[in-house]
Amino acid sequence: MYAIPFLDIPPLRSAAGSVRLPGSKSISNRVLLLAGLATGTTAVHDLLDSDDTRVMLAALEAIGCELRRDGAVLHVTGIGGQLPTRQARLFLGNAGTAMRPLSAALAVLATLQGGEFDLTGVPRMHERPIGDLVDALRQLGCPVQYLGHAGYPPLRVGNNRPTPLSTHEPVRVRGDVSSQFLTALLLALPLATGERAVTIAVEGELISRPYIDITLNLLARFGIEVQRDPANPYAAFTLPQGSQYRSPGAIHVEADASSASYFVALGALAGIEAPVRIEGVGLDSIQGDIRFVDAARAMGAQVEGGAGWLEVRRGAWPLKAITLDCNHIPDAAMTLAVMALYADGTTRLTNIASWRVKETDRIAAMAAELRKVGGSVVEGPDFIEVTPPASAAHWQASPIRTYDDHRMAMCLSLAAFNALAGARPPRPVRILDPQCVAKTFPDYFETLFGLVRADVAEIPVITIDGPTASGKGTLASEVARRLGYALLDSGALYRATALAVQQAGADPADADAVTVLASRLDLRFEGDRAFLDGRDVTDALRLEATGVMASRISVYPAVRQALHGLQLAFRRLPGLVADGRDMGTVVFPGAALKVFLTASVEQRAARRHNQLISRGIAANIDSLLADLRARDERDTNRAVAPLKPAPDAVLLDNSGMSIDEGVDAVLEAWSKRHI
Ligand code: DC
Repeated sequence: MYAIPFLDIPPLRSAAGSVRLPGSKSISNRVLLLAGLATGTTAVHDLLDSDDTRVMLAALEAIGCELRRDGAVLHVTGIGGQLPTRQARLFLGNAGTAMRPLSAALAVLATLQGGEFDLTGVPRMHERPIGDLVDALRQLGCPVQYLGHAGYPPLRVGNNRPTPLSTHEPVRVRGDVSSQFLTALLLALPLATGERAVTIAVEGELISRPYIDITLNLLARFGIEVQRDPANPYAAFTLPQGSQYRSPGAIHVEADASSASYFVALGALAGIEAPVRIEGVGLDSIQGDIRFVDAARAMGAQVEGGAGWLEVRRGAWPLKAITLDCNHIPDAAMTLAVMALYADGTTRLTNIASWRVKETDRIAAMAAELRKVGGSVVEGPDFIEVTPPASAAHWQASPIRTYDDHRMAMCLSLAAFNALAGARPPRPVRILDPQCVAKTFPDYFETLFGLVRADVAEIPVITIDGPTASGKGTLASEVARRLGYALLDSGALYRATALAVQQAGADPADADAVTVLASRLDLRFEGDRAFLDGRDVTDALRLEATGVMASRISVYPAVRQALHGLQLAFRRLPGLVADGRDMGTVVFPGAALKVFLTASVEQRAARRHNQLISRGIAANIDSLLADLRARDERDTNRAVAPLKPAPDAVLLDNSGMSIDEGVDAVLEAWSKRHI
């Protein structure tokens, strides 16, 4: 797939509706590892399908787990604590939730049973510290080698020689850098309890405790009862002797509470007439980030909820600025930083040092990007302070970098509600590299666009007009695909009318009869298939004869008028690419970019000829040429909406261009023109 270079979000005005959220990344990868280590088969429901879970699944397969998909359910047969494969090289992308626990579990297994595993990732993964975990594993006597820089992945664990572990002393691990190290040890060390109980002692204050609660909760589901001192429950954790992972049979993955934060924010900002309803996670969640709800309430959101659902509407407006220690909601707190753009003063988020060692340095990244949209930001080693743009005119539209960080992309999309804060003019938001959301929420933008409303006049349109066989259809659909925009093939509406005329046995010369059929046109598109009155007409639409009749009936002003409203209805979030003859001149005269293709008639005839031959349809170049000339003549010289470039159209002669070159030319013109 091509990388989509950017996504433009038009100014958004309101939000309403219901959303079912994908499974949590943290829970998905913990469940996968536990199921992979356990004895027996676990049916995993509602698993997140994302980059990070995919690398975990690939790693589990590489070490000998069996995976079987059955519709939406994944059946994982674990290794029962015994390594079937003694050597593997595991690529873990940028998934901290795979790197840390797999390093620990494989270090323990490789040491006890003899084995050697290399764990690597993308360059950013090799900048994310792992030294504290390695130190803890070395205390246990696990051979761990840094293959790059000391303190960072890639790692080699084990040296093929079976060796007992030293578990007499508690394993010490720092708790103040990332709770993922402790989680990794908790998930791995049941494997080390063959001789005696193993205790983990936490040094320093434990951050992100709620993530440890998730780990403990899931360990219990897999038969591991961790012992703790009730008076000091986060200081030491003991795994009893002979701990064994047992599959619970089936397990449901809760939706991600951090992902829910964007939709809670959506309700708080823009749930003006109706609430935003979130399903898959609710007030009963085992995830600490669910406490984001309290923070959102403190900023003014009205939140209701129950088991597995939340409903959010706007309460206070503007939002209320808050000061909050965010240690308990490190990921979701990023959403507060963006909500702060809509508050009545300065919001201060503290105790967020962990942001600096996530997918990117999130404090620096957030500060830089919030400033770009017009906020004032003060950052410190472990805090961020955000003040909204000083006035309506201070909101800015400049491209937002996302730093290969899914949360940056999702958070900053919320800056598109600036019209509600009075921004004049309302600003679109350009998100660079928007596919980074695939890490946890591949359909984030589609989901967002399903819930929000914009002023139709502010939804961007790109028009691509040109003569028959100029390649505009292919060009338009590829541009639309790359931008994630809707597509209007307006010729298809005229062609479908032509088919309707044929089917009804009407006379194409009878303008009134054709107009009646055009105004009743029941045409639906599903993917790349077209249905007329419920029948698949995709192939019939493309016939030369259909095109010729379309050209004839398109000269009737009343027919064009009848199809006008239908064409306007294609203008949907986040934008539209419309191709035809009069898209830039008549239907979308205010389009943000107008392209007019000017390929020569000879070149077009040659293309059409090749196209027909490749489909096994006999064709004659001379008659095609004559046909195209006649259609050009009719389309160009008709009285209403003749084929001609809009005065502000960009002329593009794509005669000598490949499809990709044409697409790149349009995208380049678009990226220059729009923001
Ligand atoms: O783009 P096409 O070849 O599928 O279009 C078929 C005919 O429909 C074309 O010859 C003229 C007419 N048409 C039109 O008049 N206005 C449009 N916007 C699109 C097509």
